[in-house]
Amino acid sequence: MASVTYQERRDALETYFDRTAVEAWAKLTSDAEVSGIRATVRAGRDSIRETILSWLPDDLTGELLLDAGCGAGQLAFAAAARGAHVEAVDLSPTLLELAAERAPVGLSGDVQFRAGDMLDASAGPVDRVVSMDSVIHYQPSDMVQMIADLASRAETQVIFTFAPRTPLLTVMHAVGQLFPKSDRSPAIVPVSEGHLRRRIGEHPDLQGWTIGRTQRIDSFFYISQAMELVRA
Ligand SMILES: C[S@@+](CC[C@H](N)C(=O)[O-])C[C@H]1O[C@@H](n2cnc3c(N)ncnc32)[C@H](O)[C@@H]1O
Repeated sequence: MASVTYQERRDALETYFDRTAVEAWAKLTSDAEVSGIRATVRAGRDSIRETILSWLPDDLTGELLLDAGCGAGQLAFAAAARGAHVEAVDLSPTLLELAAERAPVGLSGDVQFRAGDMLDASAGPVDRVVSMDSVIHYQPSDMVQMIADLASRAETQVIFTFAPRTPLLTVMHAVGQLFPKSDRSPAIVPVSEGHLRRRIGEHPDLQGWTIGRTQRIDSFFYISQAMELVRA
């Protein structure tokens, strides 16, 4: 696979999530009726969000949480409903507008949305970081560097997801490459759990962290795995 720089991938993601895919993403993250395939994706995403939320304390009152790549804000609002102050960052101002329109009333915490790069130094320090399906689009070396950057701002916990390298995902990825470039969404980059664990273990900035829980969700057309880092 041709190597893509962090900047190139980030720019492609911004175009995709701020323009190309806004409508599809708005639908997927709502209750609107969707096709069978998208319904399995939605169900898988709901499961992994529930997994991530189950690894956070039930009461987040007074805690500062960074939602890195928050999209339409589903996870951010769920954390704020538990009392967290959430800093929700995304490349797509359009998705952030959609999120702001959808803000539930009566949250015990709050959500501050910010358009930009999750690695922007102005984010944090925070108690915890969550990053659901946001770093999955980057090369493993960039992905682990992103996790290390996010971890450097977190006090206690970082939860992220990755696309586990499975035979089905490898085939889906290969098929995706057959479509004309203009029709393609920015590919997710599958990585094996063993490879990821090794890279995390070897990263000099992650020496103070250990890998905690991990949970794979396999909902046919949606495969993603949540992983937790905790301060050693
Ligand atoms: C697949 S969506 C997931 C959105 C949300 N976390 C969710 O699960 O509903 C990936 C999101 O990550 C955002 N993203 C990707 N790279 C980013 C970066 N470097 N900084 C901020 N946001 C980023 C994209 O704009 C997009 O909204």
